Amino acid sequence: VLITGANGFIARRLAPELHSAGLRVEGASRSGAADRRVRPEPGPGGGAHDTSRGSAPESTPIARRDVAQPVSSAFGGPDCPPGFAGVHRASLGESLAPVLAAADHVAAIVHTALASGAGSYEANTAGTLRWLREGREAGVRLQIFLSTLSAGPDALSDYGRSKYNVGQAFVEAGQVVFRLGVVVGNGGMFGKMVESARRSPLIPLLDGGNQPVYVHDAATLMHILRDTVLAGGEGLRGRVWNLQQPEPYPLRQVLAAICKAYGLRRAFVPVPSWAMLAAVRAAEAMPAIHLPVKSANVRGLLQQGRETHPSDYPRFGYSAEPLETLVARAVLESQ
Ligand SMILES: NC(=O)c1ccc[n+]([C@@H]2O[C@H](COP(=O)([O-])OP(=O)(O)OC[C@H]3O[C@@H](n4cnc5c(N)ncnc54)[C@H](OP(=O)(O)O)[C@@H]3O)[C@@H](O)[C@H]2O)c1
Repeated sequence: VLITGANGFIARRLAPELHSAGLRVEGASRSGAADRRVRPEPGPGGGAHDTSRGSAPESTPIARRDVAQPVSSAFGGPDCPPGFAGVHRASLGESLAPVLAAADHVAAIVHTALASGAGSYEANTAGTLRWLREGREAGVRLQIFLSTLSAGPDALSDYGRSKYNVGQAFVEAGQVVFRLGVVVGNGGMFGKMVESARRSPLIPLLDGGNQPVYVHDAATLMHILRDTVLAGGEGLRGRVWNLQQPEPYPLRQVLAAICKAYGLRRAFVPVPSWAMLAAVRAAEAMPAIHLPVKSANVRGLLQQGRETHPSDYPRFGYSAEPLETLVARAVLESQ
């Protein structure tokens, strides 16, 4: 099984799960050495992050590679993240073919890679579609794409539109698409919520924080992904599946649960959406000001707040757990 985005929150949890099920797990990673758990020996140029493009069919150990040479590199052994037999370098936008050749007899790909920042819509959309096509050309039988509940043709965020467009292509190709709610665990979207609660003593709540947040347990997700791989995707192909607990929680309640579980004393400040939008738009009109939030983000959050999503959780035989239980588990993981 090849997992893309090997350093990511979900990939790092999934690899040991698949390995324990008796599968050989290989990873594709953009950064390779960016995470200390994936640590090649220094190359001749000293830099570990090779952004050069192109493809070379052979797999060259990073310790011996020339940094100017685009390679697909495997570095198994103690430097690999747990569960991975090898991790190969590949960024969205580049070819996955050398990785598929080096990983040898890949039966399934789990696509978790997600680019962020400028150009990410193109990287995520065209880049993942290219990897889908290259996987099919290489004879990979099962490809699983991790999408989001905010995916939609009219999503205001690039993220939601890209996820929708890519998900449609996977469905048309007879592959498997999972739309995820917020995976409660030590990283990913939930980890970002914890980090932002840690950063500031004041937590702004748009329109009082009534937006519904769908959550689910990280371990349950890993079991569903493992079982899907083991079953070769049978019964799940050509459809989008919503993986989240059936009942959402208001954003305010999720943030309150985070603050309580992580021992954070924070003040919630309700902000009317019209005031937030006006302030962000005013800042956008001034080139000297760079806010981390754009008006499209605010409108996207409001759009999500109006949407409800039926859950396919019961189809997989898992029942919902209280929010506090999920968050307590995430705290334990982070210790
Ligand atoms: N976590 C959630 O709650 C959640 C909810 C809904 C949907 N999802 C979806 O599930 C997937 C995995 O989520 P996650 O939480 O594990 O995300 P994550 O921790 O951000 O992992 C994504 C990984 O993608 C890789 N990546 C980043 N830029 C890349 C690029 N330009 N080219 C290739 N790879 C790149 C990075 O790993 P390397 O450094 O190894 O390349 C990164 O760690 C994502 O597609 C996300 O949209 C997650």
